[in-house]
Amino acid sequence: MTTSTLESPVALSTPTAPTTTQRYAKCIEASKRVRWDIDADVIRGRRFDFTKKFLPDSLSKIGALAFLSVDEARFLSQVQGRTYANMFALVERFIGAKTLELTEGHRLGDQVALEALVRLTDEELKHQALFRRLDLMAAEQMPPGYRFVPPPNDVANAVLGKSTWAVLALTLDIELFSLAHYRSSIDPDPNLCPLWKDVFLFHWKEESQHAILDELEWRREDARLSPAEREQGVDDLIALVAAVDSTAQMQAEADAGYFLHHAGRAWTPAEEAAVRDGLFAAYRWQYIASGVQEPRFAATLKALVTPAQLQRIGEALTPILVHADR
Ligand SMILES: [Fe+2]
Ligand SMILES: [Fe+2]
Repeated sequence: MTTSTLESPVALSTPTAPTTTQRYAKCIEASKRVRWDIDADVIRGRRFDFTKKFLPDSLSKIGALAFLSVDEARFLSQVQGRTYANMFALVERFIGAKTLELTEGHRLGDQVALEALVRLTDEELKHQALFRRLDLMAAEQMPPGYRFVPPPNDVANAVLGKSTWAVLALTLDIELFSLAHYRSSIDPDPNLCPLWKDVFLFHWKEESQHAILDELEWRREDARLSPAEREQGVDDLIALVAAVDSTAQMQAEADAGYFLHHAGRAWTPAEEAAVRDGLFAAYRWQYIASGVQEPRFAATLKALVTPAQLQRIGEALTPILVHADR
């Protein structure tokens, strides 16, 4: 394993705990070991199997819509599964751009950290290419009219306008929920479309390193902030959560309209309202609630902020968590 000559004396004096450079090096090692190719490893000439669900029930929250037939529930999981891939492509736009910016801080410093972040950026570019391919493939097999509403560059510009501390907090949340979703919901479900499931298996393999790097970079950023700058970071994080929430609501509305139009039957006003609200609650669960409830995210956040700041974040999250968890 390569180690840097620029390690801090504190790290060198505690040989039993891995130094920060060694943690970056571990990520490089894992990144090289699991590296995959979009066509040769993931797609392998396959198409989606539309006789199977895409997003598993524990993420799609389809159980709350008990009036749907088996076919309707499957179609709704496919609509949600298409959006799920597009949401990753969306967030990877700003995650890649922010990581590229972070490399500047290591440019003439720890070359191991620099390599780990360059690899992360490269992987996020590849993931975006994969998710763009998948959306084209889904479009060939699904009825026309699906729209992914949020424009990735507008969202990225808005997010990158916030403080790095807040962007890294949001990024760790996203990378941790992507791991948790695969491990707890996607992997154990034997009835999902094999291609859709494989996409998230391969994605999970590379994301495991990303979450470690996010945490290292978030703590590194945090260490250089004044209390006032951290307070601004907390404000920005709350604003970012609100932005993710309105994105989730906008896309839930578009997906509900598409589903209701193409499901092939008339709906009562109560059923329509339940589909719209059910999708919004599901997206709040997928893109906000499931991540912030991850123990590793909660522990890192708690270590970096004051009790009053933690309470402020908690209060902003409460209505979202209550709706998502119902
Ligand atoms: Fe990714
Ligand atoms: Fe990632």
